[in-house]
Amino acid sequence: MLLTNPWISSTAIKFPRPFLKPVFQSHAQKVPSGESSKSIEQLSALYSECVRAGVDRKSAVIALGGGVIGDLAGFLAASFLRGVQLIQIPTTLLAMVDSAVGGKTGINLKEGKNLVGAFHQPSLVLCDTDVLKTLPPRELTAGLAEVIKYGVIKDAPLFEYLEKNSDAIKTGSADALKHIIAQSCGIKAAVVSADEFEAGERAILNFGHTLAHAIEKVAGYGAYLHGEAVGIGMVYAARLSVREKGLNQKSADRIEALIARAGLPVQAPELDWAKLRAAIGVDKKNTGGLPRFVLAEKIGRVVFGCPVSEQTMKEVWYAGR
Ligand code: GLY
Repeated sequence: MLLTNPWISSTAIKFPRPFLKPVFQSHAQKVPSGESSKSIEQLSALYSECVRAGVDRKSAVIALGGGVIGDLAGFLAASFLRGVQLIQIPTTLLAMVDSAVGGKTGINLKEGKNLVGAFHQPSLVLCDTDVLKTLPPRELTAGLAEVIKYGVIKDAPLFEYLEKNSDAIKTGSADALKHIIAQSCGIKAAVVSADEFEAGERAILNFGHTLAHAIEKVAGYGAYLHGEAVGIGMVYAARLSVREKGLNQKSADRIEALIARAGLPVQAPELDWAKLRAAIGVDKKNTGGLPRFVLAEKIGRVVFGCPVSEQTMKEVWYAGR
């Protein structure tokens, strides 16, 4: 993480005007990797570091790292001095296509993930596909889950591109990675621009996530990477969609095949349905207390806020095992 102060160097002003260059004071702060860094203690240490470094309202926080750093540094930027600018430089595929875009920032409490946070839009998101060369293959694969999600929710041509180019993507082709990152960021930016604070449409970004969050919780955080749980959640959502929204079986099969081809899991038979169901919880806005899902009508079009009966949720879970 870098804390920077825009500042004109006193040496620079000795040069004629055309050579006057702004110089940035910067202050780097490393944060340990892992979800445990999204804590109130880590945030408090960073506030103190900001005070020591002389961060002011003209400063910017640069989040250089994966999703944990983006969320933590983002909330630091949102809250310190009532808000300073934020620049996101994501270094994982998941962060490039999802968490660095859209302004969600936050930390965890012992009671649950992301319970404290703010919407704070970055001034710039800078993605460099070269950094993905250092990413462990499992992390790259996990990031692909969110890219597949964009194809299902909004972009059938992106879905077809992924079907045709999954090998090139897995072997790290720069052209293929640039294409899918640009498409994904574009879709996310459009969805967030239409509904920044998640009053409605932004919920479509949660396709596959209702079950995914439950899987992460029941399996124990870290057992499944977020993207892996989303892969299983999307296969489940596609199967629910066949029953509830008339998604044709061939499209559901294509979704499952693409997720499997990407190298992601498509089921988690070791997990107990009763525990998953309890972790999914209820949607208090929905009469009857049923959870709501994002379901697909076809590849490229989804609807959000769909209640599904207890019986169907359970049957579809067992049908997929
Ligand atoms: N990751 C979902 C969202 O940003 O709304």
